[in-house]
Amino acid sequence: MRKPLIAGNWKMYKTPQESLAFLDAFFPLITGHERDEILLFPTITSLAAVVQATAGTSLNAGAQNMHWLDEGPYTGETSPTMLASIGCCHVLIGHSEQRLYFGETDERVNLKLKAAIQHNLTPVVCVGEHLAEREAGHTEQVLRAQLSAALRGISPQQTHKLVVAYEPVWAIGTGSTATPEIAAEAHAILRHELAACCDAEVAERTRILYGGSVKPENISALMAKPEIDGALVGGASLVPRTFAEIVHYA
Ligand code: PGA
Repeated sequence: MRKPLIAGNWKMYKTPQESLAFLDAFFPLITGHERDEILLFPTITSLAAVVQATAGTSLNAGAQNMHWLDEGPYTGETSPTMLASIGCCHVLIGHSEQRLYFGETDERVNLKLKAAIQHNLTPVVCVGEHLAEREAGHTEQVLRAQLSAALRGISPQQTHKLVVAYEPVWAIGTGSTATPEIAAEAHAILRHELAACCDAEVAERTRILYGGSVKPENISALMAKPEIDGALVGGASLVPRTFAEIVHYA
């Protein structure tokens, strides 16, 4: 069975103080909640504080991005070794905002995924089509190409921590969520591709999250689809009460 995973992507929001204030308000709202794994992706300046504050709790924290090398002359970057050194165990890779605004490529996503595996970090690899690609009927092709490129050179055994997030670019921050049917169809494509790139067992055990305008109003219908193993939530994860409502989906 795939344990559902609800992740909050805080993007470029919240100072360390604001992040800790979120946790103070959020913890009481999820006390005893064991059905779902809960994960937060704060900004890099808040990460150490959030990792510390969530240590020994049911909450986990991860980085929104990382370089693939351990160290080097790469101004502005953070390495997997550095993440591991502060007790960070998860990392988001290939988010569409990184692809769109900061030149993230499929090749680098592959290098970062390999680095995450090597450093025992749990990778959440994001894929998703643009609106024009969907309208042109290229969704399947785009999703398969992104996922297979990410997995190039990785053996089935190395994927035991892998999480995939389907995030259609047209649904991110736009308020227009994919319908549960559209999302489930995309997830099925991705699961097929996991089987093709790795094997049937990997396809069966790998959690695939949906992301893109997830809100308390639409989470239950999305989670009702057996293909959908969780959510990657942006805007609606910034407010403790709203994110808690999502975590408590019906
Ligand atoms: P959104 O963002 O929920 O604000 O659409 C999702 C994401 O970018 O991960």
